[in-house]
Amino acid sequence: MTLTTAQLATARVILERCDELATHSSRESGIERVYLSAEHRAVNELAAEWMREAGLTPCQDAAGNLCGRIEGSSPGLPALLLGSHLDTVPGAGRYDGILGVLAAIAVASRVPAGELPFALEVVAFGDEEGTRFGATLLGSRALAGTWRPEWADLVDKDGISLGDAATAFGLDPELIGDAARDPASLVGYLEAHIEQGPLLEDAGRALGVVTSITAARRLLVTLTGEARHCATPWNLRHDALLGASEAILAIERIAREQGSPATVGHISVQPDAVNVIPGTAEFSLDLRDETAAGRDHTWRAILAEIERIVADRGLGVSVAETHTAPAVQCSSELREVIRAGIRWTGDADPLELHSIAGHDAMAIAAVTAVGMLFVRCRGGISHHADESVLLEDVARAVDALHAAVLARAAQS
Ligand code: GLV
Ligand code: MN
Ligand code: MN
Repeated sequence: MTLTTAQLATARVILERCDELATHSSRESGIERVYLSAEHRAVNELAAEWMREAGLTPCQDAAGNLCGRIEGSSPGLPALLLGSHLDTVPGAGRYDGILGVLAAIAVASRVPAGELPFALEVVAFGDEEGTRFGATLLGSRALAGTWRPEWADLVDKDGISLGDAATAFGLDPELIGDAARDPASLVGYLEAHIEQGPLLEDAGRALGVVTSITAARRLLVTLTGEARHCATPWNLRHDALLGASEAILAIERIAREQGSPATVGHISVQPDAVNVIPGTAEFSLDLRDETAAGRDHTWRAILAEIERIVADRGLGVSVAETHTAPAVQCSSELREVIRAGIRWTGDADPLELHSIAGHDAMAIAAVTAVGMLFVRCRGGISHHADESVLLEDVARAVDALHAAVLARAAQS
């Protein structure tokens, strides 16, 4: 379908806003914006302004999520949520999460108050990536009512606790759980997000329907050996980093064999000196699979191999789990609604995709039905400064999300 000048103008505004949000970064070069930071506060203020312009009434919840509401045919009706997140990984692109929030605001600007048989709410979640405090999906889990009070004691790499960061942000850490929504107050949740894989691009499609989201688990593995002088002979060494290196290669081999995406994205050693054998090596493991059973089967195989490696090298091992999430199915009604939205843009038979990436929708599924719309991104490159989307695809995504909202209204 040919896009009109007005549709392209909407998309252009979204891309300009993505550029503007990208300037709110804790880094001199590149983008990093973590939960409960000064940058988080700044982008909430900016997005609140854009929400007001779109006719939404903005309000920050007890977890620092920014929410904006338009009433439906009568005040106080349950709400259909549209959203994604504004936090980023270190060295992020401009669109992961952000595009979904801005597309939702653009959709809201097309919906007059009183038009729908439900309220419409746009939510800009404060933490999806989980890179600051180890635990992930903190904003969406607070809204879903699965916040755990002990998370206030998590600390970031500078030793700042989540509770203290929340207080500095202007929140009451004791009250974060109050962001929880009553399931009866919700109609469902729709999220538009870039596809962080090249499947849509390979298929020559702009948009896709998400069927389900991967089961995930994040672990911190610590190997303990003996820190000693680098003059120590080989037979007396218990080098924790060599053990970790062998373990990481074993993780790659086993995860490939089992078909479970696995990533070691963090490693640190102690005492971290050029002429000292590392006495401790700590690394993260992010493990995913289409099913929780498959993910756990792969983890058991990895753990058995790590235990063999540490025994051979005379090392100790301890494992802490920082996150676990079951696989989430998008609801059949909302998949149909997203499919109808994409059809409206001219794609008669939309592609269906499983998401290996995690999304706020996986947390929100604990409280209401979820549906997701994927938007093609160049080369599938994400969590990288080179993330890139086409203007035309953004225009189609807004149209599809709008048409999906109308299709959900028609189901009511
Ligand atoms: C978030 O982007 C994730 O998949 O971890
Ligand atoms: Mn991400
Ligand atoms: Mn994301």
